[in-house]
Amino acid sequence: MKIVVTGGAGFIGANFVYYELKNHDDEIICYDKLTYAGNLETLKDAEPNKNFKFIRGDISNRAEVYNLFEAEKPDAVINFAAESHVDRSIEDPELFLRTNIIGTSILLDACKKYGIQRYHQVSTDEVYGDLPLDRPDLFFTEKTNLHTSSPYSASKASADLLTQAYCRTYKIPATISRCSNNYGPYHFPEKLIPLMIINALNGKKLPVYGTGENVRDWLYVEDHCAAIDLILREGKIGEIYNVGGHNEKTNLDVVKTILKILGKSEDLIEFVTDRKGHDQRYAIDPTKIETELGWTPKTKFDSGIKLTVDWYLQNKSWWEKIISGEYQNYYAKMYDNR
Ligand code: NAD
Ligand code: DAU
Repeated sequence: MKIVVTGGAGFIGANFVYYELKNHDDEIICYDKLTYAGNLETLKDAEPNKNFKFIRGDISNRAEVYNLFEAEKPDAVINFAAESHVDRSIEDPELFLRTNIIGTSILLDACKKYGIQRYHQVSTDEVYGDLPLDRPDLFFTEKTNLHTSSPYSASKASADLLTQAYCRTYKIPATISRCSNNYGPYHFPEKLIPLMIINALNGKKLPVYGTGENVRDWLYVEDHCAAIDLILREGKIGEIYNVGGHNEKTNLDVVKTILKILGKSEDLIEFVTDRKGHDQRYAIDPTKIETELGWTPKTKFDSGIKLTVDWYLQNKSWWEKIISGEYQNYYAKMYDNR
């Protein structure tokens, strides 16, 4: 199979590239615009692999996407490419609409024009909105209504709806996965877990939004990659699969766990102004993918977070380069005087 992985120079996409190269003999083409979140260094161990190729391009540029399909004639497209950070979407929604909605529609148009065996849309549990903190009995299922909170989640929900529309109207053989919060190697340092690890290592304050009671359902990135791989090969066309591993934690618990692993003081924690529209709790019910496809997550949070902290300790040069560049301006804008 020839598989185009859009957004494969980002966090989850790159982990997926490595997962595929390790577990299958398929051709993998990473198609990525290399925004601030894309990093060729992340893919350096894939470069020598004869089954791997990188092409720089933008999913929201029709001519570039059609060129890609004409030249490569892919059998499958897995769309990871997106603007992915909620806080940035609150500051400036427009790019999220262009990449996440228009970009997805152009990929789907290309599938319609050139044909495809499988299109997979990598979506998020954020399309379901949030759950109240005082109802631990509630979980997101595939039947939960879409109810978005941020421009990011609204753009991802729109992309899901377009994917379903193209599947029904033009018979594009599409599937969708909606996953909870990922963590692990190559996670961009703007997100909670890497930001807290790096700040703690640098002796900087750890900015916890609001009271830190918001709950996220953490999944080790390799388990997400395994789920997508399974959906690609065995998932049913037209279906949505929720992906999550019942690892719910408050943000404060996550931050305290990181400090404990690093042997740092909780005095580093600083409560800062809350995120606008901050979702309270995410929690996935993964029964469908477990029973229909036999997927189960392998890594529990307690071990996954240790692996992750260890990865950031072993790969300082990867993140030091990132945080010494444009990231400094981003950090100052988002956190100074917050
Ligand atoms: P990321 O921000 O780390 O990476 C995004 C990648 O997409 C980058 O390599 C970037 O260069 C590329 N990209 C952005 N705009 C592009 C464009 N117009 N054309 C081509 N490439 C472009 O994101 P991530 O955390 O790896 O998330 C990947 C996907 O998974 C996203 O669709 C996101 O919505 C979804 N998702 C993420 C999580 C999570 O916890 N991180 C959970 C569930 C779903
Ligand atoms: O649920 C899946 C989603 O998870 C993905 O669709 C998104 O692409 C991904 O970014 C992630 O969204 P979140 O908003 O949940 O992740 P983030 O790491 O930005 O924040 C996690 C929680 O931590 C959230 O409640 C906000 C809080 N937070 C975050 C940052 C960056 C802080 O308290 N302080 C911070 O500095």
